[in-house]
Amino acid sequence: MKVIDPCTLVLFGASGNLSRIKLMPGLFRLDQAGRLPEKMTILSVGRSQVSREDWLADIKGMLDAKFPKGYDQAVFKRFIARHQYHANPPEDKDAFNRLKATLSNEAVFPQNLAYFLSVRPSDFATIVEQLAAVGLTQEDKYWRRVVVEKPFGTDLKSAQQLQSSITKHLKESQIYRIDHYLGKSALQNIMLQRFANAVLEPLWNNQHIDHVQITNTEQLGVGERTQFYDATGALRDMIQSHVLQTLALTAMEQPASLSPDDIRAEKIKVLEAIRPIPANELEKHAFRAQYSAGEVKVEKVPGYLEELGDSSSVVETYAALKLFIDNPRWKGVPFYIRTAKRLHEADTRISVRFKQAPLQLGNGQDQNWLIIGIQPRECIKLEIQSKIPGLDIATRTIQLDAANRQEGDESIDAYEALLLNLMEGDNSLYLHISEVEAQWRLVDPVIETWAKDRKPVHQYPAGSSDPEASKVIFEQEDQFWRYSIELGGDHK
Ligand code: BG6
Repeated sequence: MKVIDPCTLVLFGASGNLSRIKLMPGLFRLDQAGRLPEKMTILSVGRSQVSREDWLADIKGMLDAKFPKGYDQAVFKRFIARHQYHANPPEDKDAFNRLKATLSNEAVFPQNLAYFLSVRPSDFATIVEQLAAVGLTQEDKYWRRVVVEKPFGTDLKSAQQLQSSITKHLKESQIYRIDHYLGKSALQNIMLQRFANAVLEPLWNNQHIDHVQITNTEQLGVGERTQFYDATGALRDMIQSHVLQTLALTAMEQPASLSPDDIRAEKIKVLEAIRPIPANELEKHAFRAQYSAGEVKVEKVPGYLEELGDSSSVVETYAALKLFIDNPRWKGVPFYIRTAKRLHEADTRISVRFKQAPLQLGNGQDQNWLIIGIQPRECIKLEIQSKIPGLDIATRTIQLDAANRQEGDESIDAYEALLLNLMEGDNSLYLHISEVEAQWRLVDPVIETWAKDRKPVHQYPAGSSDPEASKVIFEQEDQFWRYSIELGGDHK
């Protein structure tokens, strides 16, 4: 366990959704696990004037909602005593001087400061600027760190602008760019399973692998977030961040060490080696669709355009891309990556199909698949051919299926891990600017072309599997979307 310096976590947007659902409960659980330093204060910053008493009652409500079965009252007492509230009304020109005055009370606020910006992305740069203007980002005796929530920019240009405005005031080591998927233990496991086992690595290349699928599908729709989503779309929301990070961990070379810099360096290399999607062949490499009305978990749900109330939107709720990585390991191997809202199953997984076996019995024999399940089930499965006992020579597919999570294992939310790393000063599970840039560089041309094409977008009924038309991106006719259906059924 690393020793954490006494510190103050300054939470901008503390009354927002992320804070209610993830950050406050996550901090509570860290406190419960004895991972918060004894001297640590949490200063919530919000736009409205709220008394400390009311704010503490609000936090209690957040915990009650998250832990309906109750929680340890002694931990609660310790946790609640850490909290302070500071109003920062947008019209107050002197707000940041007042914040500085508040924070200068060293008896209450340890002077190592971590700012968590859980606010509108358009406010990221302004807040950093205002903090810097009053000297609150200056590191001398104490450290100062800033967490920037996703998305970091809305395209390459805006990401670079944001970067250049915040780096006027912050060094790279002070910036913590979030992709919460990196805080998931199952994602960290990809690298470990690849490199800590002797059996996988020799097969992990274009000699043996036919193609790789990286899938992230949800049954949920866009919910309340219609306006945000319509300005964003699936490519920006999921592919540019979580799915490409999953791909990077799946395809990267072994880092020289497990140090943050070495891991990031390999991820950057592989992201930069992805071949740009050719503009003149976009329809063979990229497919989009929108969900229409349908049924999910026996409940009737409206279509995206109905939820939005605008039938002219061409924003995708389903996006699939075919990518190639131009390096010796992966030359010629297609990576199919896809994400969708309102699909028939919620599943995040990496599916690797191996090449045809040397012995073909001609009975429709399947190729080997290795599947790494990320969520909901953390597992690793290998499908192999095996003789059907009996008089004839015929094979069937059997499955080695191992749960990565075992009974009694700790269940840590991604944000808990990330908050702890922030206080420890370890930014290996945060994004480097070069990763962000490489990811935008890849998706920007597709987003631009799709935005210009105003023809109605392909529709798929909510609760259905991948639209048939999405198969246009497959290189070969025998390739198909791999689902998580158990063996014995049709897994095509
Ligand atoms: C967020 C996206 O970054 O990730 C959401 O904005 C998405 O649209 C969410 O639902 C998925 O995260 P998780 O951890 O639930 O898989």
